[in-house]
Amino acid sequence: MSWQERYASKLTTAVQALRCVESGSRVYIHPGCAEPEVLAEALIERAPFVRDVEIVHLLTLGKAPYVQPEMAGHFRHNAMFIGANVREAVNSGRADYTPIYLSEVEGLFESGQMPLDVALIQVSPPDAHGFCSFGVGVDTTMTAARCARHVIAQVNDQMPRTYGDSFLHVDQIDAVVEVSRPLCELPREPITDLHRAIARNVASLIDDGATLQLGIGGIPDAVLLELENHKDLGIHTEMLSDNVIPLIESGVINGHRKTLHPRKAVLSFVLGTKPLFDFVHHNPIFEFHPVAYTNNPFIIAQNERMVAVNSTLQVDLTGQVCSDSIGTYLYSGFGGQVDFIRGARHSKGGKPIIAMPSTAKNGTISRIVPILSPGSGVVASRGSIHYVVTEFGIAYLHGKSIRERAEALIQIAHPKFRDELYAYCEKTNWLRRPARTDFSVAHQEAGPQPLDTVPAGPTQE
Ligand code: COA
Repeated sequence: MSWQERYASKLTTAVQALRCVESGSRVYIHPGCAEPEVLAEALIERAPFVRDVEIVHLLTLGKAPYVQPEMAGHFRHNAMFIGANVREAVNSGRADYTPIYLSEVEGLFESGQMPLDVALIQVSPPDAHGFCSFGVGVDTTMTAARCARHVIAQVNDQMPRTYGDSFLHVDQIDAVVEVSRPLCELPREPITDLHRAIARNVASLIDDGATLQLGIGGIPDAVLLELENHKDLGIHTEMLSDNVIPLIESGVINGHRKTLHPRKAVLSFVLGTKPLFDFVHHNPIFEFHPVAYTNNPFIIAQNERMVAVNSTLQVDLTGQVCSDSIGTYLYSGFGGQVDFIRGARHSKGGKPIIAMPSTAKNGTISRIVPILSPGSGVVASRGSIHYVVTEFGIAYLHGKSIRERAEALIQIAHPKFRDELYAYCEKTNWLRRPARTDFSVAHQEAGPQPLDTVPAGPTQE
């Protein structure tokens, strides 16, 4: 039988295909823009027939109907990265959150610690040789498909074909549900003046010839806009957004000086909109790999001049970084933040950067705090943080004492919160407030400015 005949024999409907989901099964869903929405939504029709089904995935963008209160007892979601669609369910106790480094998720499937019964994936139609492409997301899904007992594929002719380690043969699929529909999109965030001010400070740390990782959120996106005059940049990242397109088209990103996979933009998934999906389609610049590869710190470190830019929610005065929760409120996840901090700090000339606005909630609270809010989880420890950047400048923490860290972080906090940060340091005997300054007046007069005292921070040449 030819592969075409074998493929045809697997064609079915979503409802039919999902009959393999049984009580007690664990079901994996392809995340991000690759989410197989038809399959995810059809799970609901399976609900009356099953109990205690665990649904596991990273950030998805669809409706996630299985977390609705009426699904309790039938389905329970386990989030390895919390998106907006499941945040309320996680924080109301109807779903779980598993904190994990992105580079280690696939190990759970492979080792049998988290065996998968069913993988719901979305791929492109097969090529002449019977290979489907994972398209916009190889992420953890190629491994999930290799490990799951049943693989159900939503085959979508609107899924781009992408290159790299990003293919699955039709023989590795158990059931095929064909669709033709637009992919989920993550619309571009409006880039504010604040984001651009922070991004300018970040861009000042990026040298020509650097290889970049850009994490999730408004700031990493804004950084790309500040790089148009740079030269010979490269990409090694888990994710990319729409803003990368003009830099590749103009030749600013060309990968010429990359020391690993020169000329290639190495990534695992894209989070963006249709123009980005069209841009990666049959584009030989891009090389997609599983995150176990892109996010392996030992692989990342082989890129010289590796610059990792990630964002966070709260930083304490010793440099502890909380990125996945706001106090006890579980907000997002680890993603690849720590993987890339580790990789960049072991890269020759590398720079791990945490960038954030100095305040949150319309300027009413400081993100630089004396003590993390009760319940906050430390995602990146104070031993691993090198650069922290806000709109007020750059603090270099690596190898610095608690006193020096507190001083450097107060200098990049919003001026209206500096007094209270100093007051805390006086209580702990870390340092004394300088006599001269009324910070809030200084700020009103000068506006946000990058510090001219920014320590360059030694790089490992
Ligand atoms: N206290 C209270 N609320 C806070 C806060 C704090 N310290 N910090 C942020 N918030 C609020 C913001 O006001 C905002 O609320 P709003 O939506 O009502 O305006 C919300 O939390 C999101 O904050 P923001 O900084 O705008 O988020 P972002 O979209 O820029 O993303 C992270 C920032 C930290 C959530 C995101 O980068 C992340 O999840 N990082 C961890 C994982 C990671 O970096 N992975 C690498 C790539 S996968």
